[in-house]
Amino acid sequence: MIIITSPQEKLAGELTIPGDKSITHRAIMLGALARGITEIRGYLDAADCWSTVECLRALGVRITLKGRRLFIEGRNKKFMKPPGELDAGNSGTTARMLLGILAGQDFQVTLSGDLSLQKRPMDRVIEPLQLMGAHFEGESDTLPVTIRGGLLKGVTYECPLASAQVKSAVLLAGLQADGTTVFEEPERSRNHTELMLSRFGARIEVEGNRITLQGGNTLRGGQVWVPGDISAAAFLMVAAAIIPGSEVLIKNVGVNPTRSGAIDLLTKMGATIELREEKMWGKEPVADVMINGGSGLKGVNIGGEMIPRLIDEIPALAVAAAVAEGETVISDASELKVKESDRIAALAGQLRKLGAQIEETEEGMIIQGGADLKGAALDSCGDHRLAMALAVAGLVAEGETSVSGAEVINISFPGFMQSLRSLLDK
Ligand code: S3P
Repeated sequence: MIIITSPQEKLAGELTIPGDKSITHRAIMLGALARGITEIRGYLDAADCWSTVECLRALGVRITLKGRRLFIEGRNKKFMKPPGELDAGNSGTTARMLLGILAGQDFQVTLSGDLSLQKRPMDRVIEPLQLMGAHFEGESDTLPVTIRGGLLKGVTYECPLASAQVKSAVLLAGLQADGTTVFEEPERSRNHTELMLSRFGARIEVEGNRITLQGGNTLRGGQVWVPGDISAAAFLMVAAAIIPGSEVLIKNVGVNPTRSGAIDLLTKMGATIELREEKMWGKEPVADVMINGGSGLKGVNIGGEMIPRLIDEIPALAVAAAVAEGETVISDASELKVKESDRIAALAGQLRKLGAQIEETEEGMIIQGGADLKGAALDSCGDHRLAMALAVAGLVAEGETSVSGAEVINISFPGFMQSLRSLLDK
């Protein structure tokens, strides 16, 4: 349980945030598929990434920790049958990307996860992997699933949804397949897998939303520096943006344009955000993000191709919208229903307890901003991003706000409350 009181002083100071979750998963998995050693610096030390590590260890990958560096001994695409079931914990990225790896392995294995992950759809990866030649036992489209991989053939797959997890699963299978794999997505989802595959030596071409990958290539492991996670930074960005007088500098944040929709959106809402010290870490753009709070936010419309660029930031952005003047309409975001919780229902339900005016829609929500928020007893609904969003809302909800079940924050941002407090103590 966490307790937040309001009114709060402004947020001030400079901090770094934990490594990017999506990039950490990919560095571990591509390192495991590659030949040679991959050294990962700045990896995310959080539960979701340890789920990936433990699954790969069970598949025979040697993974060691030396100080703050993680070393992956690549198995050049050949893994061992694990002694038992694989457990992806709470991590959708682990489960879906791992199925792409397992699709090319000549053994049968069952993959499971926690109760939240067992509710999330897996048919979106099962379908293309079956087309490529993987076998799934039974008809289940949720975990646990049993897969028997083997010889795969490249396919052309037009994905009905913009999902980086599906894209990554197909590309990891395509790497192990005979021939060429072509993946097309309706809107551009995060492209960390494409960037890292290319860095590790895969033959991959990207033209708009269409990716072409040649199968059978050997990846070469290397050094990966993981930027700070913009999805974690978003909570602090919103906290600073909604509290007048705040001045927060978040160092070394990944600002890949397929991920940085929250910065664009907050700027459109009227927040003062500046990127400083822009640089490249490998193929990933990185910058220090400066936020000055209190410029008076206004409601906006969010939809279309913007959604994949900020899908994980919607819980934080909904809090900004609840505080802003006017209406915010979030559309084309039905994917929110199948995240770690049904984020449309959960966000609306919890923020309403504070007095926010939110209407749920089939594909998103409509938020009437500017209501006076009052502290209340809230629940994380078992969702790490919801817990952090509610804590941020608590900063501007008069009186005391509690968030029960907040230990789920360790899924992606251990130290979140310490980071927030360090900015408030200044
Ligand atoms: C992720 C992709 C997104 C995102 C998730 C992480 C990834 O999911 O919401 O938190 O690392 O590939 P989808 O692929 O389901 O859109």
